[in-house]
Amino acid sequence: MTRLVSALARVAAGALDVLVAPAYGQLGYRLRAATWDDAELAVDLSHQRYLVTGANAGIGKATASALAARGATVYLACRDREKGEQTVSELSRQTGNPRVQLVVMDVSVMADVQQATRHLASEPLHGLVHNAGVLLPSRQTTREGIERTFATNVLGPYLLTQLLRDALAKGAQGSGSAQGPARVVFVSSGGMYTQKLRVDDLQNQRGRWDGVMAYAQTKRAEILLCEHFAKELCGQNIRVNAMHPGWADTPGVMSALPTFHKLLKGLLRDSAQGADTIVWLLASQAAAQHTGAFFLDRLPRRTHLPFLATESSAEDVARLLSECEALLQSVLSPSA
Ligand SMILES: NC(=O)c1ccc[n+]([C@@H]2O[C@H](COP(=O)([O-])OP(=O)(O)OC[C@H]3O[C@@H](n4cnc5c(N)ncnc54)[C@H](OP(=O)(O)O)[C@@H]3O)[C@@H](O)[C@H]2O)c1
Repeated sequence: MTRLVSALARVAAGALDVLVAPAYGQLGYRLRAATWDDAELAVDLSHQRYLVTGANAGIGKATASALAARGATVYLACRDREKGEQTVSELSRQTGNPRVQLVVMDVSVMADVQQATRHLASEPLHGLVHNAGVLLPSRQTTREGIERTFATNVLGPYLLTQLLRDALAKGAQGSGSAQGPARVVFVSSGGMYTQKLRVDDLQNQRGRWDGVMAYAQTKRAEILLCEHFAKELCGQNIRVNAMHPGWADTPGVMSALPTFHKLLKGLLRDSAQGADTIVWLLASQAAAQHTGAFFLDRLPRRTHLPFLATESSAEDVARLLSECEALLQSVLSPSA
């Protein structure tokens, strides 16, 4: 009977995927979840260490909670100390895990990322989640002069991956690597399907500000970074994947997309459902075979839709990487 229900759910979920949008909501999640093997995430992570950015709310907090519930040491990278401390106490109390720790870090400020990761870089790390993300109503720049959507969603994750790659390599080799390779997860979005990366305007300096487009551009850039780091870190036994959480009811969606939130409220996933594939990519043996892929509900998905011409050339990817390097050079002093 269970097998029959699972097979029916698989067929229904496949049919729903064709419609794309309903698959992103609660229904898509529930149909897919009916096909999963619970044993895949029945894991003990008490020897594993993870860093999750933007971990005091929404999907990041749900990810940190799921990792802590499995015994992991979890570093919550939060920009606001007070919110971070509250979340540490809440998650420690709820999960009974005292190894939930705060790292105060504004991912959009490169000097902050560099400073905050200094003490982490020498210890083994088993997983890094690039979850912090923003969709802004107006063009804003950080105190380092970088457009904030790009700084938060792209440049910060780029730098963080570079700074923690040795720690991840140690995690992949060390005695705590029971879960197999170390893992990096980029939390992207289905919004990236609409965009080809505009490498000549990464900081959205041209034309009128369109926050949704700027956001989707960065989510496309995250896919390119994922594919780049997957190749670069493969030899160090580090798997790098991206995912779409589906549409989840979070503080970010409520504040950045109030109309969308109002219209679809009852159909959205909760944060834990949005976080599920992140946790699966970090902690399951099944996910360890994948790198450089894009997932929704534990399944690899295409990264481009037909006829939209969103593919980037190798030159465009090289330009993205060199622009990231140039920006980092301009804001970080070599001796820091
Ligand atoms: N929810 C969805 O339906 C959905 C769909 C597709 C993709 N996503 C992606 O999923 C991720 C999480 O989304 P969410 O809906 O959970 O967002 P959210 O409710 O807005 O939570 C975002 C978290 O990131 C933190 N954050 C933002 N900027 C930061 C920075 N510069 N440094 C450190 N932390 C920062 C926020 O901290 P503060 O509390 O200090 O603001 C908050 O903890 C994002 O990358 C988003 O693009 C979400």
